[in-house]
Amino acid sequence: MEMLTPTQEEMFTKNKRKLNHAGSYEGPDTSKSTWLLFSPATPDEAGSLARFLSIFSSHGVNLNHIESRSSARRPGYEFMVECEHGSGNFGAALEELTQIAGYLNVISRNYKDNISTVPWFPRRIRDLDRFASQILSYGAELDSDHPGFTDPVYRDRRKYFADIAFNYRHGQPLPHVDYTKEETQTWGAVFKKLTELYPTHACKEHNHVFPLMIENCGYREDNIPQLEDVSNFLKDCTGFTLRPVAGLLSSRDFLAGLAFRVFHSTQYIRHHSRPLYTPEPDVCHELLGHAPLFADPAFAQFSQEIGLASLGAPDDFIEKLATCFWFTVEFGLCRQEGQLKAFGAGLLSSFGELQYCLSDKPELREFEPSVTGEQKYPITEYQPVYFVAQSFESAKEKMIKFAQTIPREFGVRYNPYTQSIDILDSPRQMTDLLKQIRTEMELLLGTMEKL
Ligand SMILES: [Fe+2]
Repeated sequence: MEMLTPTQEEMFTKNKRKLNHAGSYEGPDTSKSTWLLFSPATPDEAGSLARFLSIFSSHGVNLNHIESRSSARRPGYEFMVECEHGSGNFGAALEELTQIAGYLNVISRNYKDNISTVPWFPRRIRDLDRFASQILSYGAELDSDHPGFTDPVYRDRRKYFADIAFNYRHGQPLPHVDYTKEETQTWGAVFKKLTELYPTHACKEHNHVFPLMIENCGYREDNIPQLEDVSNFLKDCTGFTLRPVAGLLSSRDFLAGLAFRVFHSTQYIRHHSRPLYTPEPDVCHELLGHAPLFADPAFAQFSQEIGLASLGAPDDFIEKLATCFWFTVEFGLCRQEGQLKAFGAGLLSSFGELQYCLSDKPELREFEPSVTGEQKYPITEYQPVYFVAQSFESAKEKMIKFAQTIPREFGVRYNPYTQSIDILDSPRQMTDLLKQIRTEMELLLGTMEKL
């Protein structure tokens, strides 16, 4: 291929990345597990679990997981089971269960088969481990026009990165990688170009955090930071953590991670032959573009709100939320002290677009989730439209309001103590939550009085 001019190369980079980003966050969900939540008709009915389990066994339905807990909805216990998809006669078991259960709710990823209306979503942070086996493509697979396609060394390296991410499980230390000299030089070229622009083009939050990452995470021209160091730093700041991802995730899975303040990050780097070009998100995009802002409390909360809104949401809303993510976390602009600044990771990791987005060429609109979520974006040219957020705080408030329009018969709340999602669907839960909030309000009022 003939050499591209820098502008052409940036344009090509941009187009390819967009293609890939769209692919990164959209696609069919593949998990078929179905969760059933039920309780006996009479509280504390003796031997009720055995009776329920016999229904599954008599219809040949295999269970992968069984859990019992004190019910938040009614006195006594309730049970939660995970049924293996395709085993036995699930429909018959469900029908029988309906007849004897006092309460029954079905949570299924395979929700289009008329057995449920709520798509499956992770309830505990370790449930994110499932996504490793649900990736839409493996990170080691390269398209024929990828700069590393004909480089066997690079392909081996990509397989190495994909394998370590594939085998990663929640709670393990993030895999340490010894980057080669060539890989470090590639990082250095990108680092040098982008850090020239940050003081004038990046939002103040990014510029506030970046020196801290140089100090704490090994951000240097001659060093590719380790995900573990970056993740530990973010955890100290906002509770956000990184986890490696082996390939492309569906929008639903990718957004669900954010509900737990978990960001799925690649760890490989683009091919050395073209440092300003990458056809997919790589470690430069993640660590220079995304990571610094996850250390900002308001941005972290905004990102988590998108994630929480996605849990159990219907497909059309997932698309809207993914589009909001696109126009904020990836390509968002904001106005600070009368000046336009970039906060989207796709901008902060692209030398060409970071300059273009602040020029007078693109059209600017105010970020408004219900409108932004409908916006189509071209994949063969620079964005003609960017959305401008007044602040992360106001963007968060708008996202919370938008989330209330999602048809969902329950509320969700992240419980940081247990790192799990509380499903709010009963008055008793609301009362408990209000009591907690009242305790916190009293603490705040008491402190304010002293001050
Ligand atoms: Fe990204």
